[in-house]
Amino acid sequence: MDTPNQQETVLIIDDEAVIRKLLCQKLSRKGYKCEEADTAEQALNKLRSNQVGLVILDIKMPGKSGIELLPEIKAAYPDTAVIMATAVTEISIAIQCIQQGADDYLCKPFNLDEVALSVQSALEKRQLQLKIREYQQHLEEKVAEQTREIRKLFLGAIEALVFALEAKDKYTAGHSRRVTEIALTIGNELGLSETDMEDLRWGSLLHDVGKIAVDQLIQNKPGRLTREEYEHIMIHAQVGAGIVRPVTNGKVVGMIEHHHDHYDGTGLHQVVVGNNIPLAARILAVADAFDAMTSERPYRSAMSIKEAIDEIKRCTGTQFDPTIVAAFFKTALAETLLTKA
Ligand SMILES: [Fe+2]
Repeated sequence: MDTPNQQETVLIIDDEAVIRKLLCQKLSRKGYKCEEADTAEQALNKLRSNQVGLVILDIKMPGKSGIELLPEIKAAYPDTAVIMATAVTEISIAIQCIQQGADDYLCKPFNLDEVALSVQSALEKRQLQLKIREYQQHLEEKVAEQTREIRKLFLGAIEALVFALEAKDKYTAGHSRRVTEIALTIGNELGLSETDMEDLRWGSLLHDVGKIAVDQLIQNKPGRLTREEYEHIMIHAQVGAGIVRPVTNGKVVGMIEHHHDHYDGTGLHQVVVGNNIPLAARILAVADAFDAMTSERPYRSAMSIKEAIDEIKRCTGTQFDPTIVAAFFKTALAETLLTKA
């Protein structure tokens, strides 16, 4: 290869103008764009303002030497190839430089054809390394994208399961969708990030999937539940977290696991309290309770919106996080509900 495909910039760092000129002439003829620097300081300035593919670095220079400059170049420009230029008597130093990251060394007086060959092979090696890295990054992105797709498919399947579960029960039909709408409205009011909103959406849609393990007769019992029956129903939070765990992240799992926790710590078998309860679980608690209260249940008829709002206000600070309740009441959705109440 006589001429490089893409014009690479070579920076020649040497205090001797004659040497710089000689190398520059040879390498320009080979198709490289040449820049020159006669001190370490000037070299760093050139490196800052140019996209340099390769540096020819003189070991012996007045002021900062090539040996001192090499680690600085390697640290700031790890993708730039470095060839050390040295007198025959300094070969051991040149070898030391290679151990510190230089790609090659050339002996003075230069054989210009050898210089051109060394530059070409160092730049080809650099190109190859850049291509491998680009390929690896691309591959990582592809794998991450496919993992996201697979997770989405699994979550979609669990979502279908939730809807199927709800559909066969007239008391819960549409519950998860409505809860999701309320939870997202609150999340939006709180200014959650896009990622947190996505987690909130999945956690809300899937929060009751654990009800698959709950006895339908107990769930639909028209009368008051015994302590054992209540404890049985409440296993759905743990079961649901276990179902989604293999296909989603810790935030969604935690949200489902803690969605019946009380802010003051008085919930059933509760292990975390107050702001230690995941934020998304605290949002879900308000959204879930509001929809449950305004829906028909086997043991009671639906509360009016006003009654449900009053109940949420009454339980603020005990069952519900005051910040979340305040955010809920600020939303346009709550305003619409309040005008209906
Ligand atoms: Fe629940």
